Amino acid sequence: MKSYRLDVVSLVPQVFASLEEFGVIGRALKAKIAELHIHNPRDFTTDKYHKVDDMPYGGGAGMLLKPEPIFKAVESIPLQKHPRVLLMTPQGKPLSQRDLFRWSVNHDQLILICGHYEGFDERVRSLADEEISIGDYVLTGGELPAMSVITGVVRLLPGTVGKSLSLVEESYADDLLDHPHYTRPAEFRGMTVPNILRSGDHGAVSKWRQKQREIRTKQRRPDLYEAWLTKQSLLKLKMESSEINPRQFRIGNEYEIYPDW
Ligand code: ADE
Repeated sequence: MKSYRLDVVSLVPQVFASLEEFGVIGRALKAKIAELHIHNPRDFTTDKYHKVDDMPYGGGAGMLLKPEPIFKAVESIPLQKHPRVLLMTPQGKPLSQRDLFRWSVNHDQLILICGHYEGFDERVRSLADEEISIGDYVLTGGELPAMSVITGVVRLLPGTVGKSLSLVEESYADDLLDHPHYTRPAEFRGMTVPNILRSGDHGAVSKWRQKQREIRTKQRRPDLYEAWLTKQSLLKLKMESSEINPRQFRIGNEYEIYPDW
């Protein structure tokens, strides 16, 4: 299978080196599940000083990224069949697990444009299919947001994460947060592992975990809990009218865990 292609347009390419070297994502890149290419707009400047920014028309503090080097960098990228261009900006749509899943399934290439300094020329926006924010706070550049998208997408690609079940049960996969996890020792500084997890009763463990997920979500993210409740009741109605075979959510590859996306 062809590798998933990730192209980042950034003035600080060094930031992305750690992705190649370490952890789950490093392994996925080495295994050619995905490939990462960094493009520096500075390499696409034509003036003597390799100038990538300039003063804003109309005045005001700070410099803006010029459009030409960014356009040229993006236009130099070889395209696969189903590319998607993302512009990382605090004005974008808040990133969600749903987006990561959508890009991992519907596309075979992401082009991530990172803003930097005080901002960029408005015309850069016309390059993007989507503008993405990772939260209501402003960073110095789009590099960390782009890395969030990259790690989030690559871990969903088949072959990156060992067991598809771990994707099924984790936070956000079906609107509930994750349950608590414990490993040895059974007692640590007076804090003990719940007995049920040591009982060997898989049915009981599974019930406990589900209950914990519901409790946690209700406490920490009432918005997600409400959405989950609504979805549950819709699902119940559909099942009662036998539109759905419940087993379809548990078998096959991990993508079937997102039935109505
Ligand atoms: N660039 C600077 N801050 C950002 C944010 N919160 N999300 C995406 N891109 C950004």
